[in-house]
Amino acid sequence: MFPQGNFGRGCVLALGLAVTGSLVAAGPCDLYSSGGTPCIAAHSTTRALYSAYAAQLYQVRRGSDSTTTNITPLSAGGVANAAAQDTFCANTTCLITIIYDQSGRGNHLTQAPPGGFQGPESNGYDNLASAIGAPVTLNGQKAYGVFVSPGTGYRNNAASGTATGDAAEGMYAVLDGTHYNGGCCFDYGNAETNSLDTGNGHMEAIYYGDSTSWGSGAGSGPWIMADLENGLFSGLSSGNNAGDPSITYRFVNAVIKGGPNLWAIRGSNAASGSLSTYYSGVRPSASGYNPMSKEGAIILGIGGDNSVSAQGTFYEGVMTSGYPSDATENSVQANIVAAKYATTSLTSGPALTVGSSISLRVTTAGYTTRYLAHTGTAVNTQVVSSSSTTALKQQASWTVRTGLGNSACFSFESVDTPGSYIRHYDFALLLNAGDGTKQFNEDATFCPQAALAGAGNSIRSWSYPTRYFRHYNNVLYAASNGGVHTFDLATSFNDDVTWVISAGFA
Ligand SMILES: *[C@@H]1O[C@H](CO)[C@@H](O)[C@H](O)[C@H]1NC(C)=O
Repeated sequence: MFPQGNFGRGCVLALGLAVTGSLVAAGPCDLYSSGGTPCIAAHSTTRALYSAYAAQLYQVRRGSDSTTTNITPLSAGGVANAAAQDTFCANTTCLITIIYDQSGRGNHLTQAPPGGFQGPESNGYDNLASAIGAPVTLNGQKAYGVFVSPGTGYRNNAASGTATGDAAEGMYAVLDGTHYNGGCCFDYGNAETNSLDTGNGHMEAIYYGDSTSWGSGAGSGPWIMADLENGLFSGLSSGNNAGDPSITYRFVNAVIKGGPNLWAIRGSNAASGSLSTYYSGVRPSASGYNPMSKEGAIILGIGGDNSVSAQGTFYEGVMTSGYPSDATENSVQANIVAAKYATTSLTSGPALTVGSSISLRVTTAGYTTRYLAHTGTAVNTQVVSSSSTTALKQQASWTVRTGLGNSACFSFESVDTPGSYIRHYDFALLLNAGDGTKQFNEDATFCPQAALAGAGNSIRSWSYPTRYFRHYNNVLYAASNGGVHTFDLATSFNDDVTWVISAGFA
């Protein structure tokens, strides 16, 4: 029930809509349309990209019963209904199964099939993203992005209306500028329709990361580059373009466009300011890039040949027909800024205190005298009590540290081996000395959340958010619910990933 005063204002708003039809601001695809370069694909798990769009944004599948649900905007043109996802996914895990195309062409993105490279699923498909790995707010309302860990990928090899051959197209993507790596290739855009490398010029996609295997820009990266196949291009050649800056805003707007012997890289802070042009000019002179041989499939998170080594986070993006004007892209940038992307908490459940010593008790029936401990580099569970030896108490005690790879989560330092942290390696948990590398820091960063079963916490990997601290045969793994490894077994998953956290033994 609305208080009287609010109800009155609601009436005025409704009237205004009826009269002007424009109180809901134009969406990015309305702007591309006005510019004469309409969207032929529009993907976002966070918001509608047309002011009138109120249908499904994405689909999630939950681990408990493998059923799916579609998430829509809260209202036409609005932010995704994250609360509907949270309700559907309560006490289980959820994966993003479909990212719907809002353009009406049916260019949806689904689990990428094997290609030149196999994905990690048993059938060679890529992994699906966790539905909760990339929470954000838009204008204060919670939404979830698509957190791509290495091995994760989405694709549509039968897209309609995408550019082929040398035809012109544009595209943008809003990404997390703190989540990247040097693997190949965190891409969004136009790729081969058979998931194979079919040669130079057969792709035209946004790349984001710090790979130096082909092109590079100023500084140490990450950079926005174009994946044109057999090359990440920062400019004219597959070498260094000092005009393509390292770009590390928390929210990045990455823009690529290309037509006959003309293409451009543009970029910006997606939360403020305006777009800059990092390259605009002719095609690379190496054979195959002029004219281009675009094929028109759409990829997200992978290379054209299904290279699956990269990581990144995608919030929204579109592809257009025709070469968008800078002015159109500038108005889209303003629209993205007005959407007010902002960070939100990555954790939930009982809070942890940085600097404190904790113990983590198993909750699975029959094993509740066991605690998370280590024997040398092996992380395991052991029976520990107040009468245990000091050595064992120390092995089962962990100092909470600010997350080495992301300060919004945590790392767990061994009490008896200072400087060594729990990290995942090949999906086992190990105790290793920190080496200060980005890889180690990310492998050693974990985000506690409200327990999947009963009281306590479940603790997911920051870099692989489908994976949780799980005991299996008394050994600790970074396990996904129902995944391909024996330790991913769905049976007892919720109990095995639920821990009661108390003061450390030592
Ligand atoms: C579901 O999760 C909540 C929050 O972690 C917990 O309090 C509750 O006991 C769980 N329910 C079941 C059936 O496990």
